[in-house]
Formats: sequence, structure tokens, C-alpha cells
Amino acid sequence: MAEELLVAAETDRETRYAQLLPQLKALTSGEPNLTANLANVTAANRQIFGFFWVGFYLVEGDELVLGPFQGDIACTRIANGKGVCGTAWQLAQTQLVADVDAFPGHIACSSASRSEVVVPIVSNGEVLGVLDIDSDRLDDFSSVDVRGLEAICDWLSELW
Ligand code: SME
Repeated sequence: MAEELLVAAETDRETRYAQLLPQLKALTSGEPNLTANLANVTAANRQIFGFFWVGFYLVEGDELVLGPFQGDIACTRIANGKGVCGTAWQLAQTQLVADVDAFPGHIACSSASRSEVVVPIVSNGEVLGVLDIDSDRLDDFSSVDVRGLEAICDWLSELW
């Protein structure tokens, strides 16, 4: 089966998020394997938005462990409350970081990363993992990204 994403590159991010979510649902429909589905979600986000790094960290005991991702190699384990990802997990709240150098305890997997957004995936009050997106540009994310990514993570929480 040929898989193709139909989202015009010239459209703004809000439109692209709106067009992407139904296609993600179709792409993963009938596929029970979580790794396969998360992998396609990272690829689709990178393909549509050109983000520098897109990946999942999944809760395993008292740590986040690197899951499917697209981009350069990254640190594999993050403790609860550490870095942007561990903070999103601890607080169960999206973290929007305009300048990673200004975030106390930011974990620099890549020196090229300048801004970051991390969205927790929450089911019945429990954080299952986080979606982490890095940009090589300062202040690259806005409330549009937060809304679009939180909608993706709301839907993802049903796939576990
Ligand atoms: N910067 C993240 C670590 C993960 S990498 O960005 C891929 C953090 O501070 O938690």
C-alpha cells in the first residue's frame, strides 16, 4: 500500500495540523503495533513541518526511555522532573520553551537545538510518555503548535 501525506507545504501550521490529524488516524487505523504507529507519527511530523527533531520518550518505571524518533541520535534515559521532558512528565503539562538555554536543567542532546515543545501523553491521569519536538531556530513554536500537538497526543493516548 502506498502511503502518502496530502498536506500542502505552503499552508500555515494551523492548517497543516488540521489536515494532518485525520491522516494520522487513517495511517494507523487497523495497526495494533504501538512502535509502528509512533514511528509513523514522528516521520509524518518531520515530513510535514520539517522539524529538526521529533520523537517520543516513553515512561518505564521511574524514567523516560527514548522511543521512536526522527533526527539525530539522542539521550536514551531521562529521570522524572529532569530537563524539559522530565518536567512535562512530572507536571503532566505541556512545556513550551522559546529558548532552551533559558530553561533551567535543559538536557542538550544536540547543541543545534534552540527551542523545544514537549507534550505529555496522558490517559486516566497517568502520563504514558511525551512527544518532544526540537527546532534549530529560536522561538519556533507557538500556541498553534501546542494546540495541534496536544490534539495529536490526546488521540495517541488511546493507542496504548
Ligand atoms: N532537551 C530534552 C532532552 C531530549 S532531546 O531534546 C531529544 C530535555 O531537556 O528534556
